[in-house]
Amino acid sequence: MSAAADGPVRSESIAPSDTITVRGGIPVEGRIAIRGSKNALPKAMVAALLTTEPCRLTNIAEITDIDIVDELIRIAGGSVERDAESVTITAHSFTALPEQDVMRLHNASRIPVLTTAVSLHRTGHAVVAAPGGCSIGPRPVDFHLSVLRSFGARDDHHDDVVELRVDTMRGARIELPFPSVGATEQFLFAAVLAEGDSELANAAIEPEILDLISVLQKMGALISVEPNRTIRVTGVDELGGFEHRVIGDRLEAASWASLALATGGVITVTGVQQQELATFLNVFRRAGGDFTIDADGDTIAFRRARPMLRPLALETDVHPGFMTDWQSPFVTALTQADGVSVIHETVYEDRLGYTEALRSLGAQIQVFTECLGPTRCRFGAANHRHSAVVVGPTRLHGAELVVPDLRAGFSYVIAAAAAEGESLIHGVDLLDRGYADFRSKLSSVGIDHR
Ligand code: EPZ
Repeated sequence: MSAAADGPVRSESIAPSDTITVRGGIPVEGRIAIRGSKNALPKAMVAALLTTEPCRLTNIAEITDIDIVDELIRIAGGSVERDAESVTITAHSFTALPEQDVMRLHNASRIPVLTTAVSLHRTGHAVVAAPGGCSIGPRPVDFHLSVLRSFGARDDHHDDVVELRVDTMRGARIELPFPSVGATEQFLFAAVLAEGDSELANAAIEPEILDLISVLQKMGALISVEPNRTIRVTGVDELGGFEHRVIGDRLEAASWASLALATGGVITVTGVQQQELATFLNVFRRAGGDFTIDADGDTIAFRRARPMLRPLALETDVHPGFMTDWQSPFVTALTQADGVSVIHETVYEDRLGYTEALRSLGAQIQVFTECLGPTRCRFGAANHRHSAVVVGPTRLHGAELVVPDLRAGFSYVIAAAAAEGESLIHGVDLLDRGYADFRSKLSSVGIDHR
C-alpha cells in the first residue's frame, strides 16, 4: 500500500513506543482543551508563502502536519519561528522544491500539493508527486491539476511526477466535479495573485476553507463566497503579512464526544465553537447523547443522556452535512446503540475499513457496495464498499489492533475504552498527526492506558 495521504506509510516494524494498552469498561470523565485545527493551520502556513512579509499564527496545536509544512517552508527558503503557542513564517525567498523532496513530502501528507500554486506564482515552476493511496482510498490530485491548467499552467507527466510551468497565472472560471477541500484551497492560492477575475463553482465551503479565506482577506485578497457555493476572486498584485488565530479543531472535538457517547461518560471540550459542530450536535443528540454549552459557545460538555443509545440512519456529506471525518469515531459509538444503524459514506470510497477491526472486538457490522442512504453517490455504481449496517448493542472485548489512519485509530481507542478487558493498539503514532498530546489527553479523561 502506498503512503497514506493523511499519514505516513504504515511501517511493518512498529516501534514499541507506538503501541498502547487500553483497559476498557470504565466511563470516561474529564476536560479536553482543543487547539488549532489540523485541517486549517497547515493551509494558513501555506498562505504565508504568498508574501515576503512576516505572518503569525496563534492557537497552534503540536501536530505532526505542522512539522511537514515547517520543513517544506525551510527547504523552499523561508524562515519559521515556533513556540508552544504560535508560529511565525517569513518567506523572503522561495525556490521550487527539488524533486526528491517533493516525492518524500507529498507522500507524507496532503498539504505539500497545496504549495503548487504558490510555487508557480513565485517561480513559474512546480513539481507534483502522483500521491500514493491511503487507508481511506486513493487520494488523487486530478482536480488540483485541472484547476492549475485552467490558470494557464502547462503540465508534463513523467514517471510518477508531474512538472508544471507557467509564465503568468491568468484568472479562470472553473466548476469542480466534486466540492473538494484541497482543490478549492489550490484554486484560492492560484486566484488571489492571478491576473484578472476568477470563479470556482461547486466549491468546498467547510469552516476550514472559510478560515483560510479570512487569512487571505487579511493579506489583501479580494474574495467573495456566493450563496450557491461559488467563490469569486479578483487577483491583486501583491499580498501582505497577517496575524491570525486558527479556528479550533472540530474533528478532534467530535472524536472526544464520540468517546463519551460510547463509554457512557462525560467529556467537556473547550476551544471549538458550537456553530462549527452544529450538524454533529444534532446527530449526537438524536443518538441519545446530550450536551450543555456555555454562553460563549466554546465550552461543550458531552455526555450520554440515556442508558441505551438510539440507532440511526447516517449519511456523510460535504459541509454543512455530517463530516466524513466524524464518521468512524461516531459509528464506533453506534455499536452500543439498541438496534440497527445504517451508514452511507459519500465522500471517500474506502473509509469503512476500520469496521473489520471493530468486528475483531465483537462488533456486528456488515459493509455493502450499495448506496444505503437517500443520496445516490459517486461510488454506488463503482462497486466500492461504502455503506455499512451496524447491529447493536454488542458487548465488546479486548483485541490487538493496528492503526491504518488517524480517524480509524481514534475509533480503535473508543472501541477499546468501551470493551471489557485489555486491547493492544499498535501504530498510535499516526494519531499524533491530528490529536496533539494524545496520550496525556487519554489520561486526563481517565482512560487506563500504558
Ligand atoms: C481534506 O482532505 C481533509 N484533509 C480530510 O481530512 C477531509 O476528510 C477532506 O478534506 C474532506 O473534508 C486535510 O485538510 C489535510 P478532498 P482533501 O479533496 O482535501 C476526491 C482527516 O482525517 N478527490 O475534499 O484531500 C477525493 O479522493 C482528513 O483529517 C479527487 O478525486 O479531501 C475524495 O473522494 C482525512 N481528486 C473527495 O474528492 C482530487 O484531485 C474529497 O477529497 C481531489 C480530491
